[in-house]
Amino acid sequence: CGIVGYTGLNYQSAPILLKGLQKLEYRGYDSAGIFVPDVADNMDQLVKEKGRVAELVDLVDRSDVSGTAGIAHTRWATHGVPSVENAHPQMSANERFYLVHNGVIENYLELKHKYLTDVPFVSDTDTEVAVQLVAKFVEEGLTTFEALQKMTSLLADNSAYGFLLMDDQEPDTMYVAKRKSPLLIGIGEDFNVVTSDAIAMLDETHDFIELNDDEIGVIKPESVRLFNREGEEISREPFHVDIDASETDKGTYEYYMLKEIDEQPVAIRRMLDKYFGDTGEILIGDQILNDIKAADRIYIVAAGTSYHSGLIGARIFESWSGIPTEVHVSSEFAYEQPLLSENPFFIFLSQSGETADSREVLQNVNRAGFKSLTMTNVEKSTLWREATYALPLMAGPEIAVASTKAYIAQVTLQAILAYALSDRIDLDLEQELSKIAVDIQAIVDDKAVFEKVANELLVPAHSAFYIGRGADADVSLEAALKLKEISYVQAEGFPAGELKHGTLALIEDGTPVIALLTQPKTAGLVRGNIAETQARGANAYTITTKALAEPGDTGYVLPDVDPLLAPLLSVVPTQLLAYYTSLGRGLDVDHPRNLAKSVTVQ
Ligand code: G6P
Repeated sequence: CGIVGYTGLNYQSAPILLKGLQKLEYRGYDSAGIFVPDVADNMDQLVKEKGRVAELVDLVDRSDVSGTAGIAHTRWATHGVPSVENAHPQMSANERFYLVHNGVIENYLELKHKYLTDVPFVSDTDTEVAVQLVAKFVEEGLTTFEALQKMTSLLADNSAYGFLLMDDQEPDTMYVAKRKSPLLIGIGEDFNVVTSDAIAMLDETHDFIELNDDEIGVIKPESVRLFNREGEEISREPFHVDIDASETDKGTYEYYMLKEIDEQPVAIRRMLDKYFGDTGEILIGDQILNDIKAADRIYIVAAGTSYHSGLIGARIFESWSGIPTEVHVSSEFAYEQPLLSENPFFIFLSQSGETADSREVLQNVNRAGFKSLTMTNVEKSTLWREATYALPLMAGPEIAVASTKAYIAQVTLQAILAYALSDRIDLDLEQELSKIAVDIQAIVDDKAVFEKVANELLVPAHSAFYIGRGADADVSLEAALKLKEISYVQAEGFPAGELKHGTLALIEDGTPVIALLTQPKTAGLVRGNIAETQARGANAYTITTKALAEPGDTGYVLPDVDPLLAPLLSVVPTQLLAYYTSLGRGLDVDHPRNLAKSVTVQ
């Protein structure tokens, strides 16, 4: 979900809020809404719509909304189906308070039964309970600030919320409160803004103050006041976000995903600039390196595509630094923690730096007193701030829900770190990575090849398989995830040798099987596995390095590369195949159904 708010002296708020929502749409897009108090006419304007932000924009255009403050939201349903009633802002029954919310209130039903049995409800959302509670406490004599404080104090500890509240009696004031879900306050001249993600408001300001858990903020056009859990006023300096607003535009691209695939060579080059000094030395602080060297085991924790990049990272850490490394899915690790080694070091991988499942683990790690490092694309994000160390991925804003350049950046940064931890390996990593950037460029220049293969092989398919061994098995998982998330083709990624132990039963005449072949050690075995699928009618396509290609292959040939770094090349054709399959099926590539880019609920 995404939140934006604006309060100013001079400008209409609705266009700013709607533009912000469009930038946030990648965070969830099943419904959206806006609230603007109109001081002149003493009228409240609440407009909500099911579906995409564009539909809300149409409706707002037709409704003649006016006012210089307001709040808005784009939703990814947690409680209650996508509908106008369940869209935010949620309004109190007395039509005085309006609330937008990211997160989940775990005990909302309990609170509803305890405090609000006489209040009429119009939605199924936990958010409506929160706004009705504020209204009730104000009716009982509290100020709005006190009511918000009291309401948040009643929420179960494991709840997550970023709240942005307006009271129509104070039409220039926004109230914010948060726990777990991110919220930033943007500072302007004669105006201030609130947003769950800085990129939504970069056209207005680049200076932001982060709100910490259990704090409350009161924001007017010319002032921002922050209060801690005890209600004492605190102060915090803004930080500057150094992203050009144009980086968040699509430019001439039809979809962000293709733009981001094309940006991968630049992402690697930026990383080389940042992490290698003039004489090839690696610029990662000694303290981080010493802490990791002192560890007896590295635990990589992540979700989704970041988890898949961790699988590659673990192979590189073990092989180059000699430190045993495990990779875990954060939503599992948070509640089913394996036995830890005596002196663990944790690495969190996260594009957004906000994934709630990963943060749950980080909080456990912090409570246990272990050291950690976050690699993230978003500086100052929650995982960035709360880990012992943080290193930026430098990939630039990633907007498409399907992650591409963040994966490349994560694998690259893990390789750089593993290299810095080892003093034994015989490889010029800087040179190898610059060559890889050039090689990726050549692959993305072959778009027409992948468009054709996607249209012939995958667009008509109802299921597909990616197979490989070693690092190729890891890339298979990512390749299958990419395909299913944006094209809805049922896809599985598999260690090639495991196929025969059950899943081979699914291969039918014409089933696409795409084999990744970049690992010399096991290439011969994978060839055998491909033949097994072909014998059952599979339509095989290979993605091989040059050295492992064979005459007669139907497939794509990659340049030769160090096998541990081969995923940086082999994943790119699979991204393009997913992209063109989605396009060929007439789908909205950037906004796959049911998903959100940044998942701040557990
Ligand atoms: C969501 C996104 C995925 C992403 C995952 C982890 O599910 O749709 O693309 O890989 O979250 O996100 P993170 O920001 O922690 O990398």
